Amino acid sequence: MAGEPYYLTTPIYYVNDVPHIGHAYTTLACDALARFMRLDGRDVFFLTGTDEHGQKVEQAAAAAGITPQALADKNSARFRDLARDMGYSNDDFIRTTADRHIRAVQQLWRELVKRGEIYLGKYSGWYSVRDEAFFAEKELIKGPNGKLLAPTGTGAEVEWVEEPSYFFRLSAWGDRLLKFYDDNPGFIAPESRRNEVISFVKGGLQDLSVSRTTFSWGVPVPDDPAHIMYVWIDALTNYLTATGYPDETSDGYRKYWPADLHMVGKDILRFHAVYWPAFLMGAGVAPPKRVFAHGWWTNEGQKISKSLGNVIDPYDLVAKYGRDQVRYFMLREVPFGNDGDFSHAAMVQRANGDLANGIGNLAQRTLTLIQKNCDAKVPAPDALNDSDKALLARAGMLIDELRGHMTAQEFHKALQAVLAVVSEADGYIDANAPWALRKTDSVRMATVLFVLAETIRNVALVMQPFTPEAAGKILDQLAIDEGARDFNQLGEARRLVPGTALPAPKGVFPRIDDPAKA
Ligand code: MSP
Repeated sequence: MAGEPYYLTTPIYYVNDVPHIGHAYTTLACDALARFMRLDGRDVFFLTGTDEHGQKVEQAAAAAGITPQALADKNSARFRDLARDMGYSNDDFIRTTADRHIRAVQQLWRELVKRGEIYLGKYSGWYSVRDEAFFAEKELIKGPNGKLLAPTGTGAEVEWVEEPSYFFRLSAWGDRLLKFYDDNPGFIAPESRRNEVISFVKGGLQDLSVSRTTFSWGVPVPDDPAHIMYVWIDALTNYLTATGYPDETSDGYRKYWPADLHMVGKDILRFHAVYWPAFLMGAGVAPPKRVFAHGWWTNEGQKISKSLGNVIDPYDLVAKYGRDQVRYFMLREVPFGNDGDFSHAAMVQRANGDLANGIGNLAQRTLTLIQKNCDAKVPAPDALNDSDKALLARAGMLIDELRGHMTAQEFHKALQAVLAVVSEADGYIDANAPWALRKTDSVRMATVLFVLAETIRNVALVMQPFTPEAAGKILDQLAIDEGARDFNQLGEARRLVPGTALPAPKGVFPRIDDPAKA
């Protein structure tokens, strides 16, 4: 496994909007996974970026009285800043207005034309600008005022569109897609989403309009620049661009394609799990290995929307609760894949219950006892009894459990597993009462504190992907070298060295108890 490439992507974000909690969430999930895989020795390539073309952006720019490029530049920078300010560890940031991307998407188009997958026709049908998607009449929903709405839950109105258009022969791909899903059962996750996609494909596919002529903000069709490419064919191709495509001999392409994981929200699964593999197979390029569709957040039980004025700004959240606390909450609170509700009460409960009283308290108690009673040095253990060995074994084996959960993108289960070890350690500390041993059996006390410090070392190592700052501070307090923090150092591979001087302990997860913050 070591050194094996791992390529994962976020969706690229529309620049008609400013970053909100939904964007931060998708990237956060990828960040935790990217960090985990790096610590586990994988050669990770983690991509995020912005989706800058299309009618929606053109309209937003017109409304703001600026050019689409100016709008794109301004808002793309905000997404780039968000990644930096949230501490995300993406390796690249792609923009669909960049030359490297325009080259890639035009090449993919040519490849599709060459293979007879694209033909010129005329489109007439319903289009939702909000979703940048076409819908069949039977899919549409009647709105309260009789207006026809897209079936995506976005509440967006559709408009009738009639224009010459290039088409992709999607109708010919149904059986091949179904076979692909069958041969690759892990391609779409979670399982319930996989079933939805399969029944959509079984329902029959229509050829897909892949160019527009009534606006101009997009990549021109090669040899027919009156046509602008459909924004989704443009956008999806970003995942290839970043590897070096169309240069199929480039290191990046050879190493990282096909992608290991496209992380997406449930609303854009169809594009990634149906259109994208069809485009790729149609162009003779291997499809990605997996697409995971996560759920949506609501705010205190309400759908998040600009008109309700309840959009959650990730900066506010972090300022209020802390970066690690927000990361932990979002990944632990909701079974990944389900919808989740953001509430102040739940946020505080998680941060205090699991972090301050759980991991933080265990580390603080243990390190303070060591500081006071062991001359501020890693204590030397005597012979280990069965309960010592059991706790160390549990902590050392955590990684095996986590690998399974992370490969399945079950972040909540990974964190549950870590917290289960923390509560075992809490039980162990109470049962062994090292503070009492100080007077009766200082040799045993040293053993107990060593076992606890080792357990904390293991817990902090595996928490790095989830709460990187706090985990790093705990490792600092255990005097662990920066170079000794990867997953090869877990368990018996590298125990704490007795006699190592330890700095004065400091709490890493403050309790959130300021009522004014509510
Ligand atoms: N530009 C397209 C993606 C192209 S990928 C080739 C797009 N952009 S988006 O900016 O509208 O949305 C990006 C992501 O944010 C989606 O995965 C979407 O599911 C996610 N979210 C938007 N609102 C959300 C919540 N309220 N909760 C969780 N995620 C949400 O779609």
